[in-house]
Amino acid sequence: TVTYEHILLEHRDTVGLITLNRPEALNALCDTLTKELTDALERLEVDERIGAIVITGSPKAFGAGADIKEMQPKSFADVYLEDFITSTWEAPAKSRKPVIAAVAGFALGGGAELAMMCDFIIAADTAKFGQPEITIGILPGAGGTQRLTRSVGKAKAMDLVLTGRMIDAEEAERIGLVARVVPAEELLTEALAAAEKIAAFSRPAVLMAKEAVNSAFETPLAEGLRFERRLFHAAFATDGQAEGMSAFLDKRRPEFNNR
Ligand code: CAA
Repeated sequence: TVTYEHILLEHRDTVGLITLNRPEALNALCDTLTKELTDALERLEVDERIGAIVITGSPKAFGAGADIKEMQPKSFADVYLEDFITSTWEAPAKSRKPVIAAVAGFALGGGAELAMMCDFIIAADTAKFGQPEITIGILPGAGGTQRLTRSVGKAKAMDLVLTGRMIDAEEAERIGLVARVVPAEELLTEALAAAEKIAAFSRPAVLMAKEAVNSAFETPLAEGLRFERRLFHAAFATDGQAEGMSAFLDKRRPEFNNR
């Protein structure tokens, strides 16, 4: 096991649990935190025991955004040359294993963008989402104008990005930003249960399904459908297909070997 400064990494059987743990700054995503997050995700990615990942924060904050103290002195040349901020931030979006964001409290700016890089968001009824960058003289820089717009459409994205207002969990679910809202005290249990369920399915099928859904955002419909069909055909070459279908017909639980 590795020890980090601003995150906790735990193995819960088949699920990798990453807890953002920088309470003094409401999990503001400083340079160290984002590097640790990337490192943890890379470790989970190559760990064969792990079938799904949950990223969570504290009851008060999933993440209050990029670290404003660190950003304040930066010049154009600084941020341009280091390609701030996505170069260190794309890890959740790059992961091939499913990643669930379990969000309670504030998910603002980079915190909301981090949640949107995950495959889906389960929100506590205490969650608050927003892109407040406009209020500090900048704009979202880690996908907030792109992933948010794809997920909720132009009207809501413009409203949130241009006014910087926060929305509660109920509104976030209504507009399609989050997949489910649960009582705060059940957040982690629900997210871990969802991740365990996913991790128990045939892993090639899970990875293919994720890849296919993601292609919907990158390709024209005809290409996406073609890609889906190729993966669907490929699934018939897996042990999972043989086992899953036999188990159904034998009326027993499937036992997948991840092949
Ligand atoms: N960066 C650095 N420190 C932060 C922070 C941030 N984004 N958000 C909160 N903190 C710190 C505060 O400075 C404070 O530290 P001190 O106790 O040392 O003063 C501590 O966390 C607690 O915060 P508050 O006292 O402000 O707590 P609150 O409950 O009164 O308010 C809040 C909570 C509404 C989330 C408020 O902290 C806030 O507005 N935070 C900033 C949110 C924001 O603007 N995020 C966008 C950042 S830009 C970005 O993310 C760019 C991008 O797209 C990548």
